[in-house]
Amino acid sequence: MDIVNSDIERYLADLFPSTDPVLKEMERLAEREEFPIVGPLVGRLLALMARLVNARRVFEFGSGFGYSAFWFLQGMGEQGTVVMTDDEEANAARARDYFKQAGLSDRAAINVGDAFDIIDQQPGPFDIILVDCEKARYPLAFEKALPKLRSGGLLIADNVLWFGKVLKRSEEPSTIGVQQFTRLITTDTRLTTTILPLRDGVSISCKR
Ligand SMILES: C[S@@+](CC[C@H](N)C(=O)[O-])C[C@H]1O[C@@H](n2cnc3c(N)ncnc32)[C@H](O)[C@@H]1O
Repeated sequence: MDIVNSDIERYLADLFPSTDPVLKEMERLAEREEFPIVGPLVGRLLALMARLVNARRVFEFGSGFGYSAFWFLQGMGEQGTVVMTDDEEANAARARDYFKQAGLSDRAAINVGDAFDIIDQQPGPFDIILVDCEKARYPLAFEKALPKLRSGGLLIADNVLWFGKVLKRSEEPSTIGVQQFTRLITTDTRLTTTILPLRDGVSISCKR
């Protein structure tokens, strides 16, 4: 199921075309290889969130080849850094290359491995934590992320509407994972949460 009407999606995309050449190259690669990036509209939202909370440190569960991290860095000042994680070296290698081209290498720590182990080694606190890894483990990401987030920091997750699959009971671990995660972020009293039906659904939770 498309969450947003395709004409509206196109209208919004046309309002905000990407102009950065590296970002455009990343978007072309994603389209060519059908790689699931957050896309320009959600990317812009990430940059805006980073600016609004004056973010200096961001952690990502699942960075792919660096598209979402690139957007976070656009929203942060020169001091801002992103801790990226991906379990595939090929993605990390591409991210290194893109960040070098964009002159952002010194602002990104590109880690290869399981994000759930990597976060344990990070001192925290982070201003923003993005959850965009395998959906079955979203509830575990919630448990791992919350203690590492500063008060006033944001937990952001992509794909929380999961192409409409969240509407029904499911046996699929990915759908169950997204549904459980959603229950956690909408009921935990330490968080103020909203869900934006943008692209495939983005949740934004602010920690008290
Ligand atoms: C949806 S893509 C991330 C896209 C990225 N956030 C963006 O918008 O540019 C998910 C990525 O997470 C990686 N991944 C999945 N589970 C992971 C895990 N447990 N630890 C690290 N990376 C993981 C996959 O290899 C994949 O590249």
